[in-house]
Amino acid sequence: MIQQIDKIEKVGGTIILPGDKSISHRAVMFSALAKGKSVIHNYLDSADVNSTINCFENLGCTIYKTKNRIEVEGKGLFNFLPPTELLDAGNSGTTARLISGILSAQKFQSILVGDNSLSKRPMKRIIEPLSLMNAKFEHSGNFTLPLTILPSNNLKAIEYKLPVASAQVKSAILLAGLHLNDQTVIIENVPTRNHTENLLGLKVEEFEGGRKIFVSKSNYPVPQEYNVPSDISTAAFFIVLALLLKNSELRLNNILLNETRDGILKILKMMGGKIEIENIKTQNGEKSGDLIVRSSVLKNVSIPKEIIPNIIDEIPILSIAGLFAEGEFEIINAKELRFKESDRIRAMCENFKLLGLDVVENEDGYKLSGNINGNDFLFDSYGDHRIAMSFGVLSVLLEQRTAIKDFECVAISNPGFLEQIKTIAI
Ligand code: S3P
Repeated sequence: MIQQIDKIEKVGGTIILPGDKSISHRAVMFSALAKGKSVIHNYLDSADVNSTINCFENLGCTIYKTKNRIEVEGKGLFNFLPPTELLDAGNSGTTARLISGILSAQKFQSILVGDNSLSKRPMKRIIEPLSLMNAKFEHSGNFTLPLTILPSNNLKAIEYKLPVASAQVKSAILLAGLHLNDQTVIIENVPTRNHTENLLGLKVEEFEGGRKIFVSKSNYPVPQEYNVPSDISTAAFFIVLALLLKNSELRLNNILLNETRDGILKILKMMGGKIEIENIKTQNGEKSGDLIVRSSVLKNVSIPKEIIPNIIDEIPILSIAGLFAEGEFEIINAKELRFKESDRIRAMCENFKLLGLDVVENEDGYKLSGNINGNDFLFDSYGDHRIAMSFGVLSVLLEQRTAIKDFECVAISNPGFLEQIKTIAI
């Protein structure tokens, strides 16, 4: 679907955004593992989280959805039923990689599939460490989906240093290790999002230059109530919009402020963004608070290497902020962007070229200079929700006529994106 998007003058009021995607996936998974009924409040009702829900229904869990909350009847250790259908992770890398860890420990065979985008994404990063734990896989030879996960009989604990800064890889190993008496230890040198650790209450040791994370069967989850804060990655689109529009002040309530996810706020503040935080609280080990964002004059700053995993999902919308900030926007050390729902380096650069900008595309990032020129712009989302919403925000800011191809992909993480913009437009 090609979506035309109109300019708006300013935004105001309060916005309540849907629940965090990473936490929603994990809350469903950990509820499915726990024996008995768990309740998840403010879960994200989107295509990606529905992929996780469908997979666990196929493994024998009963899941009831009502508006804004779900109830999961979890099966308990080694009680999942062998799936009678293919397990379809859709577009969701988090579903595919995390569930692979869980399935590696089961006594039955499962076949994991995904859509075109997910079927191109690298799975070697999880197949390798899980194979070290004695998990057995069959795949096409390219280490991509479809992936057959064979029944496990002698899974063993490992100590593993993450070669790639990825929370999905870390979580896949932790979730396999969760089924073992012996302790699995993961060492990460660069911090990645830590929701698996927080929600399972894992032991974490900080040391000079990294962290060690410990898991074993003693951490197996029990049924509980989860309260999911609103997604900071989704909030980022609205924060940038409020910063860039004139005469705007927007309040975003109950936004996730986990320190492995709040890099976008730090960078935008370094750029001169007026962002205040109120009403900080912690639920299920996850910090959240209300943000008040005001129109600001931004300047580009150099983005430190260590913060890249923290802002990896926000780089597309940060680039839109950078486009309107003083100085040139440059991102480096972000090669991981090439392995997301689309090759986000290519997708951003191609769309920026349509705007008449000077774009230097590098293997690990890009640099933008020059000015926007032209009249009508037809952006391509490449079927990637974060590219679609980034150019959605840009479209709202531009005088020119704009439209975005395959805009329906916003349903992956935020089906209500356009409606939400309408509610805050003044
Ligand atoms: C996620 C981890 C990140 C992120 C993705 C969600 C998670 O991916 O980009 O959107 O929920 O664990 P990587 O761990 O592959 O960097």
